[in-house]
Amino acid sequence: MGRVSILVVTGTDTGVGKTVVTAAVAALARERGSSVAVVKPAQTGVGENEPGDLDDVIRLSGVTTTFEFARFPDPLAPAAAARVAGVPPVSLSEAAERIEELAGSHRLVVVEGAGGLLVRFDEEGATLADLARTLRAPVLVVARAALGTLNHTALTLEAMAGRGLDLAGVVIGSWPAEPGLAERCNVADLEMLSARPLAGVLPEGAGALDREAFAGVARAGLGPVLGGGFNPAAFRTTFRLAPLS
Ligand SMILES: Nc1ncnc2c1ncn2[C@@H]1O[C@H](COP(=O)(O)OP(=O)(O)OP(=O)(O)O)[C@@H](O)[C@H]1O
Ligand SMILES: [Mg+2]
Repeated sequence: MGRVSILVVTGTDTGVGKTVVTAAVAALARERGSSVAVVKPAQTGVGENEPGDLDDVIRLSGVTTTFEFARFPDPLAPAAAARVAGVPPVSLSEAAERIEELAGSHRLVVVEGAGGLLVRFDEEGATLADLARTLRAPVLVVARAALGTLNHTALTLEAMAGRGLDLAGVVIGSWPAEPGLAERCNVADLEMLSARPLAGVLPEGAGALDREAFAGVARAGLGPVLGGGFNPAAFRTTFRLAPLS
């Protein structure tokens, strides 16, 4: 991944596969012997003794250096979940400091957001975009494959550009075993929106694999910028899609 030491992972929505993509990036970093830490600044929607996103990351990637800075039980955006629980929200400026510190001692720190890019973490309206800007970290956008993804992805990319954020790439979080017309057409349109080939495509079901199989899927599904061997041109050919012009 060149000299990138912090990668912020966001999605076009909740449930698009940020955790699975985060685990895949972490798995490849671990495989090539890089020290890697994974951070979830705010985990919502899980109780104290329940597994959170980082447990999935550990299970799938084998990376055990993980940090959850705050947890709120209600399945809400972090700011709302803190409000409902009557506890202070997570501070993204403190989160930034801790992440910088981790970046000093790890080759790569992967930070998974909550929901999408502009979800609020506190009552002042701090978002993952602010965190990425503070960290000067590139942002990886996880998108759906299906109908509706083009608008969500365009909005996310436009919001990033307006805030001066660097795009690390767009990854499709869950590619169906039998893609329909919309999914197949969306590949070229997602590439047009981001003005670059897809940074990766993970197959549907990847999150349920064991660690070894998951590592294989990560290698095949993430592009070189993320340490894998995914070839977007070959992928387009497989689905007989028009080349990126
Ligand atoms: N490629 C995949 N293979 C298998 N399951 C997947 C895949 N992508 C996503 N899922 C499943 O879809 C659900 C949502 O995925 P995931 O938890 O990665 O989303 P998320 O974007 O991290 O959501 P959140 O906003 O809650 O963090 C999970 O149950 C996950 O197991
Ligand atoms: Mg997640």
